[in-house]
Amino acid sequence: MSLSFELLKESGPARRATLTLPHGEVETPVFMPVGTAASVKAVPQDVMETNGAEGKGAGIILANTYHLYLRPGHELIRRAGGVHKFMSWNRAMLTDSGGFQVFSLSELRKVTPDGVEFRSHHDGSKHFFSPEHSMEVQIALGADIMMAFDECVETPATWERTKESMGLTHAWAQRSLDYWKEHRHEVPWHNELDGSHQSLFGIVQGGMYKDLRAESAERLVEMDFPGYAIGGLAVGEAREVTREMIAHTLEYLPKDKPRYVMGVGYPDEIVEYARMGVDMMDCVLPTRAGRHGLLFTSQGRLNIKNKQYAEDQNPPDPACNCMVCRRYTRAYLRHLMHTGEPLALTLASEHNLAFYLDQMQALRNEFDQAE
Ligand code: GUN
Ligand code: ZN
Repeated sequence: MSLSFELLKESGPARRATLTLPHGEVETPVFMPVGTAASVKAVPQDVMETNGAEGKGAGIILANTYHLYLRPGHELIRRAGGVHKFMSWNRAMLTDSGGFQVFSLSELRKVTPDGVEFRSHHDGSKHFFSPEHSMEVQIALGADIMMAFDECVETPATWERTKESMGLTHAWAQRSLDYWKEHRHEVPWHNELDGSHQSLFGIVQGGMYKDLRAESAERLVEMDFPGYAIGGLAVGEAREVTREMIAHTLEYLPKDKPRYVMGVGYPDEIVEYARMGVDMMDCVLPTRAGRHGLLFTSQGRLNIKNKQYAEDQNPPDPACNCMVCRRYTRAYLRHLMHTGEPLALTLASEHNLAFYLDQMQALRNEFDQAE
């Protein structure tokens, strides 16, 4: 089984489904923690497997092609048996194509119809990514789902500039698809017996223009990918615009395939988007904010570094049943943050991830019980 998407229930535009991948079943709507460099920053894999109120952990995590290609290199990971074996993660995984990271992190980019030349943000060394090369790297990494190589246009961008960039993304999507069809069995964990292989998702672009979003979605749907992502969002536009673009784009995506919004968002946003019919989302926010001492709780956001928590003997979130909230106090977390103890980063990230995972679990439970 390479990918199956079984719709269990629809409740208005929202959907409850099971996404079956070579490395396991994923209950959707799902939040995917980000493990950029084959690590969910500061959180060990055994915690990722057991985190959250129900102790079920994360069903799927994300890793980044751009980072792993630069360090330690995709050939090294291929020799290790793929990223699953390399990092000892046996559940589902998705790799982003590197498109977005090249545009947001690297220096001195030169974009041609063939691909992107860029300099590493580590050492300034020169590299080139084309759709074919991104696929080759993603096959070596061996995640269950790979993403087409795309260009995420800067914001704000004119309609003309966005249209041109979108055209490039469509050409690259077709080339990603062609390469995948020819090479998808080269994945490190491929088993001749069950015939399973990686899947490839297309990425809708089109900036903040509804007509371009519709055109992009239609064009990608014609190409017939196993799943579709909505990219180019949460790049500085107003939240209302993000919501509008998602709602509009969803209308053009097939109902029987997974729909993934990339790089969102705050806790209330991911719930809102799931209610609109989005199946998958990923974001660095729970881990990144956690490392800065920002905790997401049922009472809103709290900055654990604030003086008011110095002697607060309550758990970070009294309504949370995660391992952190069952055991530690706000006073202790504040102390760890203030003294720069590495454990602070782990505990804050762990709680924030639990909060995100629990929110989605609660939503799935609600959908399951809906009439
Ligand atoms: N992550 C967040 N947004 C995007 C996007 O537009 N493209 C890709 N490849 N990854 C993303
Ligand atoms: Zn907690």
